[in-house]
Amino acid sequence: MSTQDELASIPGLAYMDGKYLPLAEATIPIADRGFLRSDITYDAIHVWKGRIYRLREHIKRFRASMTGLRMDLALTDDEISEILVDLVRRTGYRDAFIMVMCSRGIQPPGTRDPRLCRNRLYAYVQPFLWIANEEQRRRGLRMVLSKTQRIPSEALDQRIKNFHWLDLTMSLFEAYDRGAEVTILPLADGTVTEGPGFNVFFVKDGVLVTPDRNIFEGITRRSVIEIAGDLQMRCEIRAVHGTELSAADEIFTATTAGGITPVTEFEGRPIGDGKPGPITARIRDEYWRRHDDETLSTAVSYE
Ligand SMILES: Cc1ncc(COP(=O)(O)O)c(C=O)c1O
Repeated sequence: MSTQDELASIPGLAYMDGKYLPLAEATIPIADRGFLRSDITYDAIHVWKGRIYRLREHIKRFRASMTGLRMDLALTDDEISEILVDLVRRTGYRDAFIMVMCSRGIQPPGTRDPRLCRNRLYAYVQPFLWIANEEQRRRGLRMVLSKTQRIPSEALDQRIKNFHWLDLTMSLFEAYDRGAEVTILPLADGTVTEGPGFNVFFVKDGVLVTPDRNIFEGITRRSVIEIAGDLQMRCEIRAVHGTELSAADEIFTATTAGGITPVTEFEGRPIGDGKPGPITARIRDEYWRRHDDETLSTAVSYE
């Protein structure tokens, strides 16, 4: 298949340098440090039934990631939001996935000084994206504890959303090699962090638990913690060891790209009775129900 054919199969709309263009035609300059050095940050947002979920919080987090990497754009948060709303409106998509990125940009010839780059905004919208397919969502995912460690936050503050994904990507190869689909990555001390594109929760004796360190603090994770509070369910945010996952009653993943997904197998053994658990189902249903709450989302005006 040619590159052109590969690109043509990608539906969506992009925004670059003040212009809107089909996603298939949106290519970044090869000299952009975002490409050359992973010198880029981003946020991933979703649209459900024509409303953008927690847009303001996503933009606030995107701004914090930019500030953390000493990047800036000649745009206010409201202007960035308007560009994203406009992108969605132009596609007409009611259920969609939005990527917004700020890259360091192109460095002037003869220097490697990142301060001299003009930071660049890239964004695109695609139809809604699920990290797990329908069958996986129904039966639950198979997870393994990765042998690849997560990049420690002492080296790269994982609260900044980043494309330093090689630890996550190599762990995925490990998962597939071992007959699984997803991973959770440990730190050197045996505590666990998160997986390729999601946070992790487990349930033990009715108590919800999620790791507290070396993670990207997901908006979906935040939603789950709020839901637990509303349901008067105890939720512990603390150091978690891999052994606790093996003994869990339920495990689930949490991410913008698909919400809450049950994990029914860990390290080759069933979790609970090997079927998606009732607490996971309750939280998942409540998560989707919240998408109708107008205080948590921004309507897109398609007319
Ligand atoms: C490494 C990582 N952790 C967690 C998450 C979940 O974050 P959110 O719920 O905001 O999508 C993501 C999402 O892309 C991620 O890449």
